[in-house]
Amino acid sequence: MSLRIREYHPGDTDAVLDLWNRAKASGYEPVYGLAEILASCEKDHAVVAVVDNKIVGAAVGRAAHEQGWIVFFSTLEEYRRQGIGSSLLSALEARMAPLGLTKLSILVPDSQEERKTVLGRAGFVDRNHLSYFEREIPVSEKERSILQELGGRLLPTDLWPAIAGMQGEKEMLERRLVLPLSDGALAEKYGVEPPRSIVLFGPPGTGKTTFAKAVASRLHWPFVEVFPARLAGDAKGLAAGLRDTFTRIEDLDNVVVFIDEVEEIAAQRGGEPPTALQGVTNELLKLIPMFRERPGRLLIVATNFIRALDDAFLRHGRFDYVIPIGLPDTGARESIWTRYIPSHALKNVDLKELVKRTEGFSPADIEFAARKASQRALEAAVYSPESPPDGPSTEDYLVAIGETRMTVSPEMVGQFLEDIEALARL
Ligand SMILES: Nc1ncnc2c1ncn2[C@@H]1O[C@H](COP(=O)(O)OP(=O)(O)O)[C@@H](O)[C@H]1O
Ligand SMILES: [Mg+2]
Repeated sequence: MSLRIREYHPGDTDAVLDLWNRAKASGYEPVYGLAEILASCEKDHAVVAVVDNKIVGAAVGRAAHEQGWIVFFSTLEEYRRQGIGSSLLSALEARMAPLGLTKLSILVPDSQEERKTVLGRAGFVDRNHLSYFEREIPVSEKERSILQELGGRLLPTDLWPAIAGMQGEKEMLERRLVLPLSDGALAEKYGVEPPRSIVLFGPPGTGKTTFAKAVASRLHWPFVEVFPARLAGDAKGLAAGLRDTFTRIEDLDNVVVFIDEVEEIAAQRGGEPPTALQGVTNELLKLIPMFRERPGRLLIVATNFIRALDDAFLRHGRFDYVIPIGLPDTGARESIWTRYIPSHALKNVDLKELVKRTEGFSPADIEFAARKASQRALEAAVYSPESPPDGPSTEDYLVAIGETRMTVSPEMVGQFLEDIEALARL
């Protein structure tokens, strides 16, 4: 047998493909996908074993800083146990080591004993107690470019647990939105039609935007915020710009579309002559039923001022739920305070007092007061060194609370309660 190990050439693709197919047919569970392997053949490092002009094995690696990874390593069944594997590994190492690698690594499924033997012979050590985890990033290449164009993105996966307090709202969104949307088959079994569009309303700073993003994060769906008033730059006009945006969104499998402060464009119509924004309102009214036709998507609109919305906007059939997001209760305020007070300072702070003194504060007001207190304590620590240096004190927080103006006035609270009576739909 005349064995030759040589560099991979572009013409070897079919042979590598064949090795991959045969390896898979014999139970090889690949960690790296075929596309990754072929990309590494082209751009990284690959060697093939040739016997009588036939490719019988290959090893493919990629360098990542100081550690190299073998992304594919296989020899045809009938050529095994002849040292070909070892030769491939040492040839690959010889090419990759000069890049400054200190380690060459490979992942091997537990079931592949034979492969482990070959690696052992080539000097690889089995590092036990490692488990392999992976997560599919739920966006395709095509979707990525649409998202980029629309300014959309996948949000961090932990926004939902990061919402402090608001247990009632959270539980209700979890049940009404997340449950049927994340398990469509289960919803169907019970005849539940998953929601397609909802309204969040409530005074400013209560967390409507935060909730919209958290729902997208919770569902692992990309988040696209549409700014109708900013589509003005579109040469065909606002309404056409909005329509184009919704057409692009059609190509996404899953998405949460968010329109904030929707009262800006969907305020009561009327007035002569009609303004440019009225055209946008009409367009949006037409787009929502179309948007609702396809599953796997959710439109969330938010407003601080629901009573200003055009009646047609809230008419049945456009929105599944009209959900109030109100001021945080005692428990929620406590969680929100805990979030913003540095953890080492918490033990010295009279949390109960802060919670009591911030009745009527929105989460945004609490955040503002907390930042103010931190700034005050920092300045004191640096400029008057006699002050205790271990973070903001209750005093700092109480002063900051005194200097924070509540965003939501008692009148607004009153109106909000009326709006819940008249317009909420849960
Ligand atoms: N439940 C919450 N826990 C912690 N921070 C919150 C919470 N709700 C809102 N915030 C913070 O308050 C600020 C205002 O919230 P936002 O969602 O923009 O309110 P809205 O959209 O209702 O005006 C944001 O900085 C947000 O991070
Ligand atoms: Mg907002």
